[in-house]
Amino acid sequence: MGKATSFLYLNEEDMIKAGVLDSARCIDVEEELFRILSAGDYVMGGDKHNAHGIALKFPKESPFPNMPIDAPDRRFMAMPAYVGGRFHVAGQKWYGSNIINPGRGLPRSILMVMLNDADTCEPLALMSGNLISSVRTGCVPGVATRHLARKDAKICTCIGAGPVSKACAEAIALEAKNLEELIVVDLFQEKADAFAREMGEKFGLKARGTTEMESAVRCADIVSVAASSVKPIYMKNDWLKKGSVIMFTGRCNIDEEYFSSAKIVWDHAGMHEVYYDEHLQLPENERFINGIGVQIYRMMYEGKLPPITESTSLGDVINGTRPGRESEDERICFITGGLPVWDVGWGYEIYSKAKEMGLGVELKLWDSPYLNG
Ligand SMILES: NC(=O)c1ccc[n+]([C@@H]2O[C@H](COP(=O)([O-])OP(=O)(O)OC[C@H]3O[C@@H](n4cnc5c(N)ncnc54)[C@H](O)[C@@H]3O)[C@@H](O)[C@H]2O)c1
Repeated sequence: MGKATSFLYLNEEDMIKAGVLDSARCIDVEEELFRILSAGDYVMGGDKHNAHGIALKFPKESPFPNMPIDAPDRRFMAMPAYVGGRFHVAGQKWYGSNIINPGRGLPRSILMVMLNDADTCEPLALMSGNLISSVRTGCVPGVATRHLARKDAKICTCIGAGPVSKACAEAIALEAKNLEELIVVDLFQEKADAFAREMGEKFGLKARGTTEMESAVRCADIVSVAASSVKPIYMKNDWLKKGSVIMFTGRCNIDEEYFSSAKIVWDHAGMHEVYYDEHLQLPENERFINGIGVQIYRMMYEGKLPPITESTSLGDVINGTRPGRESEDERICFITGGLPVWDVGWGYEIYSKAKEMGLGVELKLWDSPYLNG
């Protein structure tokens, strides 16, 4: 007789009851995860243990009528990680993204997170992942605000009025203790207004929506970019004021002078090193085109910036092994491409809480494995 195995299934409602939307808690958990990353007590996919994940990208055209074809933000993605420290758990986020989904009453991306015992490999939980992902993504700029923004930051401008940008705004508002005003920029005025109204009321901030980016960026102490790639975002070097911090959660292009003069901090430079190497495998005319931070990779490739191996990660700043903000005038650019370590770490935190609260449905894998030993 082999060993019985079951795991916990948690739907979106269970996740909410277990606290997945608690951004303040998530910021603290993520700070812990950044420390773990910087110390090296984690493993991600690929030969260098630093891969973001494996993407299922579709071809530009196909002879098969049912096969999906390439489009902006169109992909499936598997993102595995082992997280050490008190977490000591393996897991994976798996999602699909289709930009036309909102017209069908669905989110752009639909995500699931699986957790496994790092030793026996048995499944521990299968969870609805949309809120894990949006909150963990949003809370990264929260951790960055804690460590990189000026303490007297008063105005935050958020580019993009989708769910990821909203999660970023929430975490920034929690961490920027002297924030007075929120400006939301979107292609659609109504979306920007609705986002501004909601966040303004929630955090007692002066808030407005706009479709005009330049003036909204020029006055901001904190700029958060989390827009989909419907229309590429371009900014000029002089739009970003002294002492500002800009956080790229989505793609953004700025004049090269900006990157030459600002301090660049990555969520995890090791992962960007892998991305950089992947670009080098592509034909010359396809390199450094898609992805967050590609403009910086290109400048590194052209020798205009120091190599990625000499870059600073936020965990190093938190652990005190690399400098963070060194002056009130310094401009800082923080780039976050997203790490499976956060999905697994934040997912594990919510799974533990759900178990404590008796939430979810226990599902049997087997009473005794058919293929025992
Ligand atoms: N770095 C990470 O860890 C991470 C994780 C998840 C998502 N993301 C990225 O965050 C971005 C936003 O995700 P989402 O699910 O909220 O997207 P979404 O498609 O639901 O919403 C994005 C919003 O951006 C707006 N927009 C698009 N182009 C714009 C422009 N040029 N100027 C102003 N607004 C513009 C759209 O009108 C829309 O309201 C995506 O690019 C996604 O890939 C990053």
